Amino acid sequence: MYRLGSLSRRSTRAIAANVAAAATRYNARGLSTESLQAFGEKHVTRGLGRITEGIVAQGRGSYVDFQDGRHMLDFTTGIGVTNLGHCHPKVSKAAADQCMNIVHAQCGIAFHEPYLQLIERLLPLMPHPSLDSFFFWNSGSEAIECAIKMARIATGRPNIISMQGGYHGRTFGAMAVTRSKTIYSEGVAPLMPGTFSIPFPFWHQFGASPTISESELTANSLYQLEILLAQQTAPRDTAALIIEPVLGEGGYVPAPNEFLQGLREICDKHGILLIIDEVQSGFCRTGSWFAIEPSGVRPDILISAKGLANGFPLSAIISRKEITDLLKPGSMGGTYAGNPVSCAAAVAVADAMKEEKILDNVKERSKQLFTELNALKADPEVAPYILDVRGRGLMVAVEFTSSASAGSKYDVVTSETEQVGLAGRVAKKCIEKGMLILTTSMYEVVRFIPPLNISEEEMAKGCKIFAEAVREVIKT
Ligand SMILES: Cc1ncc(COP(=O)(O)O)c(C=O)c1O
Repeated sequence: MYRLGSLSRRSTRAIAANVAAAATRYNARGLSTESLQAFGEKHVTRGLGRITEGIVAQGRGSYVDFQDGRHMLDFTTGIGVTNLGHCHPKVSKAAADQCMNIVHAQCGIAFHEPYLQLIERLLPLMPHPSLDSFFFWNSGSEAIECAIKMARIATGRPNIISMQGGYHGRTFGAMAVTRSKTIYSEGVAPLMPGTFSIPFPFWHQFGASPTISESELTANSLYQLEILLAQQTAPRDTAALIIEPVLGEGGYVPAPNEFLQGLREICDKHGILLIIDEVQSGFCRTGSWFAIEPSGVRPDILISAKGLANGFPLSAIISRKEITDLLKPGSMGGTYAGNPVSCAAAVAVADAMKEEKILDNVKERSKQLFTELNALKADPEVAPYILDVRGRGLMVAVEFTSSASAGSKYDVVTSETEQVGLAGRVAKKCIEKGMLILTTSMYEVVRFIPPLNISEEEMAKGCKIFAEAVREVIKT
């Protein structure tokens, strides 16, 4: 396996030299790190948020180097993207080679080889053999737009049901089915009409206790779906139901298998298509190629992105021919859709995942991470502050207690309280200590999305930083 923690002293020196060279280049142009930061703050839209100051100079494996000399362990993987670490040599080489062959072979002009090779690689990895028709796009949001269009065309019905707590992106269709936070759509209504939602089987969505059973949550959510179909959107008007098998931006919550199976049954009964959004959970992240696998549920449309090409922009919308044959040629497409460089990178990702036995590593490192986090939670000093440790594979979260546990009415993080809560403070402390890590959802949640080829030592280092950060923050 390509191990990043075990970088030789020579490559560590080479990294430091590269970072120093970048700083010298900027300095030669009269641009210090501080002035570049100020330049960015002045000219980059305020609509983007950042978790740290500084200019990224390069990434290698599990680490990111900043121009100011910080060498940081990256437990964000650029939000679940660089699953094989930064600049995996095989992936970068495949992309570089493709750059010298053909960079842009527009999908509306002709087929290109990496596109077809990628389909060859993906076909045997599909969670169900019926998934045999592919379309590649650039981003997760675009893929969601495509899935919504396909579902409406295939069924001739308008409405889409999504999950309260679900996140599907920031473009208009994707935003309309996103129900994780209002920030993504605040002030931009009207959104795409014809969208409805039911609560994800997550205790917060019902104001329940974290100890409520999965079967009770499942029953409650499925009941909500039944009454939604009876009271708000009739089955004959309902094209599709879209769900993340592991809620991402909603708090890192795996959907119970029985819930996913229940959805499949209800969809089958009413001719509703089931869209499985694996933009974040897919491609080995949760310990299987796709997170839907353990449930045995067949998606009608499966969406993949992020880790698919390890950082090159690529998403996939996969369905069965019977559905995609209903689309008129030209109704799908996009200038950069299925770019050859991204596809070549994705072929290399699929090969590297197998060659390097990534799924085995995910299993081992997941065990290590859960053991460390549960030990921290069991510590009597820390126990009162940790509400939940959850997730699957290397998509793991720690939820801290919030004002609700102190008797406040609302158990949520709002834009006003975001930095005050434990999750934000712990993440900030981790960053000060040399580890990039993200929060998620409107609750007090810190998420762990490290590279899937992370070494045991790197995982131990990350857990140590996190534990120290928690202990320091709860004392202040
Ligand atoms: C589950 C899920 N769906 C869709 C998206 C949107 O993808 P993108 O940001 O590439 O548009 C994301 C992004 O985080 C996601 O996590």
